[in-house]
Amino acid sequence: MSEPLAAPVLEARELTKHYAVSTGLFKPKALARALDGVSFALPAGHTLAVVGESGCGKSTLARQLTMIEAPTSGALMLARSDQKPADVTDVTLADAARKKQLRMQVQMVFQNPFASLNPRKKIGHALEEPLAINTQLGAAERSERAQAMMARVGLRPEHHARFPHMFSGGQRQRVAIARALMLAPKVVVLDEPVSALDVSIQAQVLNLLMDLQDETQVAYVFISHNLAVVELIADEVLVMYLGKVVERAPKALLFAAPRHPYTQALLASTPRIDAMARQQRQVLSGELPSPLNPPSGCAFHKRCPHAVARCATEVPVLEDVGNGQSVACLRWREL
Ligand SMILES: Nc1ncnc2c1ncn2[C@@H]1O[C@H](COP(=O)(O)OP(=O)(O)OP(=O)(O)O)[C@@H](O)[C@H]1O
Ligand SMILES: [Mg+2]
Repeated sequence: MSEPLAAPVLEARELTKHYAVSTGLFKPKALARALDGVSFALPAGHTLAVVGESGCGKSTLARQLTMIEAPTSGALMLARSDQKPADVTDVTLADAARKKQLRMQVQMVFQNPFASLNPRKKIGHALEEPLAINTQLGAAERSERAQAMMARVGLRPEHHARFPHMFSGGQRQRVAIARALMLAPKVVVLDEPVSALDVSIQAQVLNLLMDLQDETQVAYVFISHNLAVVELIADEVLVMYLGKVVERAPKALLFAAPRHPYTQALLASTPRIDAMARQQRQVLSGELPSPLNPPSGCAFHKRCPHAVARCATEVPVLEDVGNGQSVACLRWREL
């Protein structure tokens, strides 16, 4: 990436979330380190994809970014768009009134939009609700804006008066995207937004997301376990393992020259890789360890084909390896 990046609209600094979990009757609670010191900056109009196996902390990250939960530690920096120059605030320290304003700027789309749509309320109501709660707009204006947004996401005017169950999965996801955009957020966090859809419908929804980003410069945090989807939509990719970032790179570099053995293994298990590249790569074996009891040293060492003795004792930190790529592997120079 040669051109300088715009100022970030969202910045995570060492975001951490630990959950106290019960391990049995009369036993002390244990700490699950679901998210462990994740940092990144997201410029306007960019898409950061977050990938990693089930349980690596992707949805936990999403809940911190959207302020559904408060992190155990770390900072979440957001710029207030109505201030010039932009007034950057650490959300975790903001008072309730400020949090409410900042929350509007980061919206969420879930894998299953049924979970976020009230089955008893018409779609028009679902779209107008964020405006009714957060703005002073009158009913006529709210309805007009909902209609306009429906047109932008490819829904027809008559859909306004329909209930969620009357829509197909792809249409419902269009509704969820429309709703997320009603307050003109700076960031939308999408947690597996197309995983539940047919492949042909997935492409339509991904194209819609990319068109909307071109029009509005909204930034996406796009969570997915599907690397083919990530390759289509991402500008940059964050690879997570057991609550930590193990690699971060511009998309093209991540797919062409992955540096972390875990990223290499993830790519090897994806159908898109050509046969030649595949032969040189290791396939992932074993399971993700429990975040209650993470392995010592590098959390990946027990599954890593390149692990040596010091991988069991030294904790790797994310190091800049050039061209915008960072990797947390003790052996990246030799491998
Ligand atoms: N409320 C909670 N209490 C205790 N542990 C939790 C809680 N939420 C998440 N965890 C644990 O944190 C870890 C990360 O979970 P998370 O849901 O963020 O993973 P994920 O990457 O989104 O997985 P998936 O791909 O399956 O959606 C898991 O080990 C999970 O069991
Ligand atoms: Mg999840």
